[in-house]
Amino acid sequence: MKLALGCDHGGYRLKEEIKKLLDEEGLTYQDFGCYSTEAVDYPDVAQAVGEAVAAGEFDKGIVCCGTGIGVNIAANKIPGVRAALCHDTFSAKATREHNDSNVLTMGERVIGFGLAVEIVKAWLGAEFAGGRHQRRVDKIAQIEAKYKK
Ligand code: RB5
Repeated sequence: MKLALGCDHGGYRLKEEIKKLLDEEGLTYQDFGCYSTEAVDYPDVAQAVGEAVAAGEFDKGIVCCGTGIGVNIAANKIPGVRAALCHDTFSAKATREHNDSNVLTMGERVIGFGLAVEIVKAWLGAEFAGGRHQRRVDKIAQIEAKYKK
């Protein structure tokens, strides 16, 4: 599994913690930045990660900012991206099973590193359940298609 990682300055430290987990687990990732706590604009990194995932270059993406909300809104503008904002492990597992989410977003200013790592584990460890959920995910794609220029 190839993962795309990203953050703005508000999520930089959290992204670095997630990289430690991925290194321990031997998972492959590419870091799309940013690379310090110097201020950047969160839509830029959300777009870079989202486009890489939507293009099929990466299986999944994880993007952090201060709240997890800005990067979530931006990533979800990209057709094919189903970004889930998760600050608990139940949602992380459920969004993989039900929504086939392919981008996880979290906020460094919202949760601690310990919980964030457990959320990443829960999200990466869960599989899409298909069945009735596939029909619903297909309907999301239909909405995207309706508004595509
Ligand atoms: C940056 O200050 C902050 O706005 C950003 O990290 C994020 O929380 C936006 O949603």
